[in-house]
Amino acid sequence: MNTPTLQIQNLHKHYGKVHAVNNLSLEVQPGQVFGLLGPNGSGKTTTLGIILDVIKRSGGEYRWFGEAPSAESRKKIGAILETPVFYPYLSAVDNLKIVALIKGTDESRIDTVLQTVDLHERRNDAFKTYSLGMKQRLAIASALLADPDVMILDEPTNGLDPQGIAEIRQLIVQIAQQGKTIILASHLLDEVQKVCSHFAVLKKGKLIYTGGVDEALTGTDTVEVAASDMKSLEEAIQQFTHTESVRPEKQFLRVRLNNNQSSTDLNRFLIERGIIVSHLSQRTNSLEQQFLQILATDPASTNQSSLANQTATNHA
Ligand SMILES: Nc1ncnc2c1ncn2[C@@H]1O[C@H](COP(=O)(O)OP(=O)(O)OP(=O)(O)O)[C@@H](O)[C@H]1O
Ligand SMILES: [Mg+2]
Repeated sequence: MNTPTLQIQNLHKHYGKVHAVNNLSLEVQPGQVFGLLGPNGSGKTTTLGIILDVIKRSGGEYRWFGEAPSAESRKKIGAILETPVFYPYLSAVDNLKIVALIKGTDESRIDTVLQTVDLHERRNDAFKTYSLGMKQRLAIASALLADPDVMILDEPTNGLDPQGIAEIRQLIVQIAQQGKTIILASHLLDEVQKVCSHFAVLKKGKLIYTGGVDEALTGTDTVEVAASDMKSLEEAIQQFTHTESVRPEKQFLRVRLNNNQSSTDLNRFLIERGIIVSHLSQRTNSLEQQFLQILATDPASTNQSSLANQTATNHA
């Protein structure tokens, strides 16, 4: 097996009484788009800050590319924690020249990264004339400048309008396709489903789940169906072309459908065959429902505060 890109072992972070990261262990493999999913205050930004060496850990270990973190490994990581600061009156190109100077990378990739984030046409316009989505894309361009193997993004779509959100998500997928490993924090299940291959769920600093998106968040709902004649009901369901599986449970059959077919489609099919159901109910994947509940945790009841304004902008 490949060396994991990132290994976190028994990581802890205390802020006074707040146990912001509580015995966190997880692994990110090369090529994964890894989502760190959790509600406000669950420790996502703190975790990213620690593995980027901008926040001091209270305990535990982490390794990049199988080795203890070093300046060398840090060079292979591009990150955006919070919104980077660019000079408002300078163009994208001039801002990136400054970034290149600070990072000690040469300017040769400026054109390429501006193309990647689709800002090439606007490259000579002042930063202050950019939309929020364009500003975020420039931030991503700046993190890509040194051609890192890993990209770390903290809530990359926060505050954007739907179009901006879609553009950023598409860009993340595109960057992943270039072979980069991506680690992103998000409080949106939907975002993790759309862009990630793997994910971990955090709640009050603790890991409560980690696994593949496909296994856990397939988005395929199941449908519970019952009728007076369960035998002919099951036979009919088996004949429905979109049925993936039928499993008898106590009072009903649990049916998994493919191609986003809904309970309504199944019901229509059954009615056409003269079967009237006594129970029909669509159920969301139970894990998914569990996560949605966790993510819906009332922020007021958790210890809420973010690192905004405190975490230094990280261009590296
Ligand atoms: N500098 C700090 N000083 C004190 N407590 C902090 C500090 N930074 C974070 N915390 C606390 O640590 C916990 C985790 O915060 P963190 O910002 O990592 O969460 P998060 O998952 O990124 O949340 P959000 O979704 O709001 O960005 C919270 O209880 C927060 O109040
Ligand atoms: Mg955060």
